[in-house]
Amino acid sequence: MKVTEVMTEIGGVAIASGGTAMNDDAILVTEDVRKIYRSGADSIVALEGLDLVVPQGQFVAVMGPSGSGKTTLLNCLSGLDEIDAGRVLVDGLSIHELSDKERTKHRARDMGFIFQAFNLIPVFTATENVELPLLLAGVRVTDARLRARETLERVGLGHRLDRRPMELSGGEQQRVAVARALAGKPRIVWADEPTGNLDSEMAVSVIDLLGELHDEGLTIILVTHDPAVAAHADRLITVRDGRLVEDKLLAGPDAREVREEVTVA
Ligand SMILES: Nc1ncnc2c1ncn2[C@@H]1O[C@H](COP(=O)(O)OP(=O)(O)OP(=O)(O)O)[C@@H](O)[C@H]1O
Ligand SMILES: [Mg+2]
Repeated sequence: MKVTEVMTEIGGVAIASGGTAMNDDAILVTEDVRKIYRSGADSIVALEGLDLVVPQGQFVAVMGPSGSGKTTLLNCLSGLDEIDAGRVLVDGLSIHELSDKERTKHRARDMGFIFQAFNLIPVFTATENVELPLLLAGVRVTDARLRARETLERVGLGHRLDRRPMELSGGEQQRVAVARALAGKPRIVWADEPTGNLDSEMAVSVIDLLGELHDEGLTIILVTHDPAVAAHADRLITVRDGRLVEDKLLAGPDAREVREEVTVA
């Protein structure tokens, strides 16, 4: 079976030409998304005609040159940022048509975020950092504490619960950030260069962790510059000048050659 056939079979193919997507098990569907940044007289088209269908549970890596629109894609598709045209459906819900309050609630309930700069709060302990979004989402204090601890144990930080970010290594800090993204039991995790600030050993441990979570059914959309990181994904999409220029399936036996090609690149 050809890679394209496998992709069609699992519904993981981007529909860019008005075809009908197999959306039944899609967690994320984007339709002709456009994003323009305007500053003064200048305007930059950061996303153009973006059509993408992501099936539930898929691990998608996003690559592309600096300035190509990867962070914009993540921000716009997750609803962190507004779009100028098109639609983004998460579980069939058009997220940009929700009120700010509804969108925030949806995000808190269903999405986790991991950024390159870990964005931890320096005066808070690891537990408090993981707890915070749970509390903001309305989880009860005792439940939030319990869940924060459990999730930190899950990422191998059970012995670091009361440390502040400064007292942790870079890899440990990133694992706190991963725990923070996961504690709310999200259905999609969005990660922007989550290993960019880590040495290769720590990067491997964060990627292994994401791989485990993916095995448990989590949908992951991950931006990376590192082909070795991208090779862990099921699918690799490439963005250039705000457009999706390539879409390859990396998972499954028929995709082995593609995966090797990515790893070697
Ligand atoms: N807030 C903003 N205002 C104006 N232009 C922006 C803004 N954010 C990004 N851009 C521009 O939009 C384009 C896409 O930026 P984006 O941050 O999405 O790129 P990227 O692919 O994530 O790059 P990198 O790999 O360097 O992180 C770039 O030309 C950038 O300069
Ligand atoms: Mg970026």
